[in-house]
Parts: sequence; structure tokens; C-alpha cells
Amino acid sequence: MNSLELRRKFIDFYISKKHKEISAALLLAENDPTLLFVNSGMFPLVPYFSGEKHPSGNRLVNSQRSFRTDDIEEVGDGRHTTFFEMMGNWSLGNYFKKEQLNWWYEFLVEVLELDPNRIYQSVFAGDDIVEKDNESIDILKEIFKKYDITAEVGPGTRGDGNKGPNVDIDFNKYRIFPYIDKNWWKRGDAVGELGGPDSETFYDTGRIHDPKYGKYCHVNCDCGRFIEIGNSVFMQYKKTVQGWEELSQKNVDFGGGLERMVMASNNLSNVFKTDLFSDYIEYIEKKSNKKYEDFSSSFEIISDHVRASVFLIADGGIPSNKDQGYFVRRLIRRALVHLRKLDVEFSAFLDLSKLVIKKMSPVYTSLRKNEETIAENISDEVDKFSNTIEKGVKYFKKVAHVNNIISGEDVFNLFTTYGFPLEITEEMAKENNYKIDKEDFYKRINEHKSISRKGSEQKFKSGLANMSEVTIKLHTATHLLHEALRRVLGTYVEQKGSNITHERLRFDFFCPRKMTQEEIN
Ligand code: SER
Repeated sequence: MNSLELRRKFIDFYISKKHKEISAALLLAENDPTLLFVNSGMFPLVPYFSGEKHPSGNRLVNSQRSFRTDDIEEVGDGRHTTFFEMMGNWSLGNYFKKEQLNWWYEFLVEVLELDPNRIYQSVFAGDDIVEKDNESIDILKEIFKKYDITAEVGPGTRGDGNKGPNVDIDFNKYRIFPYIDKNWWKRGDAVGELGGPDSETFYDTGRIHDPKYGKYCHVNCDCGRFIEIGNSVFMQYKKTVQGWEELSQKNVDFGGGLERMVMASNNLSNVFKTDLFSDYIEYIEKKSNKKYEDFSSSFEIISDHVRASVFLIADGGIPSNKDQGYFVRRLIRRALVHLRKLDVEFSAFLDLSKLVIKKMSPVYTSLRKNEETIAENISDEVDKFSNTIEKGVKYFKKVAHVNNIISGEDVFNLFTTYGFPLEITEEMAKENNYKIDKEDFYKRINEHKSISRKGSEQKFKSGLANMSEVTIKLHTATHLLHEALRRVLGTYVEQKGSNITHERLRFDFFCPRKMTQEEIN
């Protein structure tokens, strides 16, 4: 089943279960000071989990384009992408665990025709506050029974979920695994955030476990044998000053990556082998005269980053040195570094962006509408970096030899003179076993910011009333104040707003109680 069919089948399946399809949000988060990008389908739905009525009812479905900054470094392992399409279905205080798990398995086995023997599930193991999710365990056992599979609860872990239980697991016998930290989903840590126990579904690719990732394999192991294809969150709690408290309604928030579902339905173990990426991989192979298999990491970084850049620009992200724009810049420049490694000319990036528009515009019509803006922004950014990249690489090679550490000054020069985002320098250093002096780099960047005068370094223009020295100082002071508040009151303190004039700064934040005089001091 190709991506176009699968996307539609998922939505139609839930429509057949009386869900309404809702439109997706833009990738650049709007009206949310805590978030730069929409990174899962539930983000635009937050108010409705707490009881507000959604105009489309209480059973919803959609496909939400999402972007995860946390995964930038993970791209290259065959299964991570920064940009992905999250297929989601939601119950807003309507159905709960039984319907959710039964329908999801019905979709996987009857519609996608996955072999249930290759499906595994994790559940919440319970902690001091919320008990073990025995309800989901019983439901899952019944589901597997329908397919003549005895699903026993195997060893999970109450400790570090990444490390797993550290025992040899018989995967023919055990199918359900309890974890704690891995199976509590929350949007964030601030007071007011929502969360709840979740249950993740894993597809067994059949790969041999690689002991590099730990002696024994487990479903959350990073070796790539088991790949998570969906997550059912039982969104039932809200964070208060006292801790997690029950919401007035029980919700379901399901999300599963389209790319990984297409992978599983085609019996593959790598998302870059699906039709969602094949055009780009083929194009890079042709242009570089190299095989994907021999340079998989660079191929994947380029393909992922071009897709992400196209979607981010279409949704209003313009390459720059701050906030969302910085990520667009970083993605494009990083992809160029990898094209350079493959000896491919930079114009390939623009060609690839056109392939993305061609492939995705039947579903995302806004890509065609924004074709020109996308091309202009990409060409601009490619031009800017191609002017300095060679000199920058030369500079990097020259400075990297002293004690195997690249000084803050050199990282700073690479940043300001040659346009190398910090993370790219860091990645190049890592490849060569060098370290970089980040602390010193940050110090220099801050000094640089505070001496920049109005109209000078455009790249540091930060949306302040003006760029006078007083304003910049007050802006820096807002950051210090934010940090001080987090230390005195707790890490839940988040900036809700800020306003700076040349006389004073204002900083809005949420505190559930009156602050003491000592705290204010
Ligand atoms: N919010 C959950 C996740 O991101 C499920 O949609 O995994």
C-alpha cells in the first residue's frame, strides 16, 4: 500500500467509526509561547481535552504535518525523520481504552494486513500516583486471542526505559511489556499541562539485535529491531502544583507516523525505502553516482531536510538566525554540507525541493500555491551558504588541530564569518573526534549581541522595540529573570509574554499562588 492510499485508508477507517475529519494546523505554532513547531496532532486540540466543546464533535481524525527538533540528530538511522505526517484519532471524553485498542488493531490487521505475530505493545507499569494499566493489558490479551495468539505480559522495567529490563526475552511468548517513564505521555512539565498513561505499538522488523545497544533486546531498544508505529495516549490527567490530578473527562489521543505505517505495510524496515522518499533517494543516487546503501546517513539527512524545509517555508518559516527561521536555515545548510560530502552540486537542493512539491502537492495543495516563495527562499539560502562554505571548511580544518579542541572564538568565527550554525560545526567536530568550547562560544555570542547597534547585524534583530543598547540589556535581563524564577519557584515557570521599552521590562508568567517577600527579593 503506498502512502497516498494508506493516508486515505486511515482517515476513512475512522470515519467509518463515526469520526469527523478535521483540518490540520500550520507547522509553525501559533498563539503558543511554549512551542515553536506543531509536533503532534494533539497540540491544536489541548482546550478540548479539558471539556471545551469541539465544533466537529467528540470523535476526530486527521493527518497532521509535524516537525520535531529533538530528532534532528537522530536522522540517519533509517527510521527517524524531523518532518513527518502524524495520523491521529481522538476521543474527547467519548470512547476510551477498549474501543481505541480494538479499532487500532482492526486497522493494523484487517486494513493494513500486518501479521499480528509481528506486533508488540508496551503499557504503563504504574508508579506512586497512578496504578499499572491492567485494563489495557486485559483488552490487549483479548485482542490477540482473536488471532490465536496468547499474549503474555513480559519483563518491562520500572527503571530506565531506554536500558530495558536487561534479561533475555522470549518474544514468542511475551507480547506486552510494562514501562514507567516510556509510557507516560505529557506535553510539557509546566502546571496546567495534560498527560496520561500511554500504550505504544511496535512492529518487529525481524532484524538481528545489535549488542552495541545493550546485551539484550527489548521493545524500546534502539537497535532497530522493534519500531514504534503508534501511540495511544489515555489523556486523563492535568498537572497541578500538587502533582497530576484527574481531568473531568477521559480522552484518547492517538498518533502514528504515516512513514512508519507505510514501511510496515510494505514489509520494510526503513522508512527511506518507502514511496515517500524513493524519488529523492533515486535522484541523489543519479547525481552523486553513489549508492544509497554506502552513504545512507547523508542520503537520509538530505532527503529528510529537504522535505522539512519545503513544508516549513510553505507554512511561513523563513531561513534566519532566530527562532523557527534558525531551524530552516540549519536544515538547509546541513543538507548542503552532506551534498558536498557526496560531491553533488548545491543546485540539487532546489531540484529536490521541486520533487517534494511534485510528490506531496496532491495532498498538500498549499505547496503548489507557495511554489515561488519556496524556490526563492531556498535559492537565497543556498546562495548565501555556497559563498562561504568552502572557506569555512578550510578554516575548520586549519583550527581543528590545536589540542583536538576548537576554541569558542573559532566556532564563533565559523558562525559569523562563514555562516556555520553551531550544530553543524559540532557535527563536523564529532566526526573528526574533536571537541568544541561551547561555553566560550555562547559567551561571545552574548557579548556580540549586546554591542550590536541598531541596524547593524541584521541576524540578531530579535523583534524588540528597537535595537538600542538599553533595550538589548533589558532583553538579556528578561532571560536572567526567567531563569531566576525557574530556580526560585520551580521549572514550571514559562514565559507567557514580555514587553520592553527603553525604561523598563515586563515579564508575564504564571504562578498559582502569591509569592512570598523572600521569593520576590
Ligand atoms: N501525542 C502523542 C504522541 O505524540 C500521540 O498523538 O505520541
